[in-house]
Amino acid sequence: MAPLMESPTLLCVALLLFAYFYLIEALQKPTVSLNPPWNRIFKGENVTLTCKGNNLYEVNSTKWIHNGSFLDVTTSGLNIVNADFEDSGQYKCQSPKSNESEPVYLGVFSDWLLLQTSAQMVMEGQSLFIRCHGWRNWDVSKVIYYKNGEVLKYWYENHNISITNATVEDSGMYYCVGKMWQLDHTSEPLNITVIKVQRDKYWLQFFIPLLVAILFVVDTGLFISTQQQVTFLLKIKRNRKGFKLLSPHPKPNPINN
Ligand SMILES: *[C@@H]1O[C@H](CO)[C@@H](O)[C@H](O)[C@H]1NC(C)=O
Ligand SMILES: *[C@@H]1O[C@H](CO)[C@@H](O)[C@H](O)[C@H]1NC(C)=O
Ligand SMILES: *[C@@H]1O[C@H](CO)[C@@H](O)[C@H](O)[C@H]1NC(C)=O
Ligand SMILES: *[C@@H]1O[C@H](CO)[C@@H](O)[C@H](O)[C@H]1NC(C)=O
Ligand SMILES: *[C@@H]1O[C@H](CO)[C@@H](O)[C@H](O)[C@H]1NC(C)=O
Ligand SMILES: *[C@@H]1O[C@H](CO)[C@@H](O)[C@H](O)[C@H]1NC(C)=O
Ligand SMILES: *[C@@H]1O[C@H](CO)[C@@H](O)[C@H](O)[C@H]1NC(C)=O
Repeated sequence: MAPLMESPTLLCVALLLFAYFYLIEALQKPTVSLNPPWNRIFKGENVTLTCKGNNLYEVNSTKWIHNGSFLDVTTSGLNIVNADFEDSGQYKCQSPKSNESEPVYLGVFSDWLLLQTSAQMVMEGQSLFIRCHGWRNWDVSKVIYYKNGEVLKYWYENHNISITNATVEDSGMYYCVGKMWQLDHTSEPLNITVIKVQRDKYWLQFFIPLLVAILFVVDTGLFISTQQQVTFLLKIKRNRKGFKLLSPHPKPNPINN
């Protein structure tokens, strides 16, 4: 009777475990980060792309994909030295036993001024950096940042804009104007989008610890109930044994006598 009672519970645990590992797998996508953080750079500059995933124990097992083709690099860091226009495009990485990362787009430009950002699309609440970068790192002065055609910030000396808690209102078309070698220059405009956070992602974050807690409770419950049943069965067995031992010498029946 005991195994029959337990099998639906065991099935449930198995299903929960399966769902749990499936979710963990799905969440373990590696991510690509840039150092320095700018995804738009000038020709001749350097940037390192780093793949962060679950490949901590396996060195040189990262795969890099540029514009859909695999690169020869297998280290978790991909160094782009003296960037050329062909280095532009889509980058993804893959660690063993994991899915591809979300793509990262790198742009290589040649201009006087370049409006750089840490990301063209950020989630609400994340940080965002914007920089008015001069060709060959030449000094830029009297920098004006524009957002949707209106002056956002003005500095006599160049400064980066840093937004620590991006909101949907920070979305817009940005560009900058500045003086280099006594001449005014204007960067190309860039659209920055701040995405509203989807609540179901939050739900998932709470769901997994909850699932672990449920599993723990179910597991402990099973363990205790199994132990109690075993003790109970042992008791019955012992009693039966005791009865059998007694039976060759039955108590004299007072009625028969
Ligand atoms: C992972 O990749 C497989 C195919 O390789 C795909 O079927 C699955 O949907 C991917 N999962 C996620 C979470 O992207
Ligand atoms: C990029 O790296 C190379 C090699 O380390 C170096 O020679 C070059 O000066 C660097 N370029 C910039 C713009 O820092
Ligand atoms: C990983 O690759 C780097 C660069 O190619 C190399 O120097 C290093 O020895 C490799 N490590 C292992 C464990 O293969
Ligand atoms: C990758 O794609 C970008 C734009 O889509 C292009 O500018 C670049 O030249 C491509 N590079 C290679 C190596 O295919
Ligand atoms: C902007 O940020 C970059 C990268 O963090 C830094 O190297 C640079 O000095 C900053 N520029 C200004 C003007 O603050
Ligand atoms: C970020 O901004 C949102 C909306 O303005 C606000 O609700 C939240 O408390 C802010 N978070 C931090 C850490 O400042
Ligand atoms: C940037 O956004 C503006 C208005 O939102 C739009 O008209 C323009 O086409 C966008 N530019 C790019 C390059 O996506």
